[in-house]
Amino acid sequence: MSHKPFKAVIPAAGLGTRFLPATKAMPKEMLPVVDKPAIQYVVEEAVHAGIEDVLIIIGRNKNNIANHFDSMPELEEKLRQKGDSDKLAKVEHSNDLADIHLVRQGEPKGLGHAVLRARAHVGDHPFAVLLGDDLIDERDPLLTTMLAEYDKRGATVIALMEVDPDSIHLYGAAAIEPTETDGVVRVTGLVEKPRKEDAPSNLAIIGRYVLSPDVFDVLEHTEPGKGGEIQLTDALQELATDTNAGVYGVVFSGRRYDTGDRLDYIKAIVQLASDREDLGPDLRPWLKDFAAGL
Ligand code: G1P
Repeated sequence: MSHKPFKAVIPAAGLGTRFLPATKAMPKEMLPVVDKPAIQYVVEEAVHAGIEDVLIIIGRNKNNIANHFDSMPELEEKLRQKGDSDKLAKVEHSNDLADIHLVRQGEPKGLGHAVLRARAHVGDHPFAVLLGDDLIDERDPLLTTMLAEYDKRGATVIALMEVDPDSIHLYGAAAIEPTETDGVVRVTGLVEKPRKEDAPSNLAIIGRYVLSPDVFDVLEHTEPGKGGEIQLTDALQELATDTNAGVYGVVFSGRRYDTGDRLDYIKAIVQLASDREDLGPDLRPWLKDFAAGL
């Protein structure tokens, strides 16, 4: 590794309109998944992969996110007086998790634009981007594999996952060729949210990227694409077809929870809660009875 330690960038400036009215005064990244805000899972994932410095790109209602990762002296003192060390530990955990930095996106002009806002903080070093709509099970160390792959190849690495061809229009889709390593492919082309008939494959970009800092120069001149937004996928398409750069994909087949729309969000909560030691034993039999009565 001939670069500084990886930093993580978490874009969290979307409007979250699919969850209105819950997201009227609260960023969607703060919606609870069981009992933790979605964004905390993502920060924890970065920390598990060894990243200590996390930059969150915030939009409106930023104070909720800033407060969540800051200390809450009054609440902590109350819990201390009550001797509730369990809850105190939960509150303090998110303060101490990582070295959190915040930068504003201003106008939400797309994921590519959000990532470009990280330039001053990240500098001329590779970095990870984690999208909060995709939660990766902590038992499946996707990001760790991607960071190692970056170090091996010195080129951008994205996470890909096979999806139902009927869903590919919701994702960036990749054209690929195999490499000498099982589960790692070379990306030869990328299209943002193609129609099913135009998709180069059913390999979808899921929200994990380890990016070479070259992406910043590309993003500076990336024109608005799909939806009139500056798309990270379009910048990566340019890197993928540049013979001096290149993009690789780690094909993920582990547990991913999509929290991007209401139905998937509900499924994610049920799946994660059923797996938990404190909730699963009561939830699982109830779910069976409930489903039997449907
Ligand atoms: C973004 C990216 C898309 C990627 C997806 C993964 O889209 O633009 O390429 O496949 O995240 O979740 P969004 O879901 O933010 O519209």
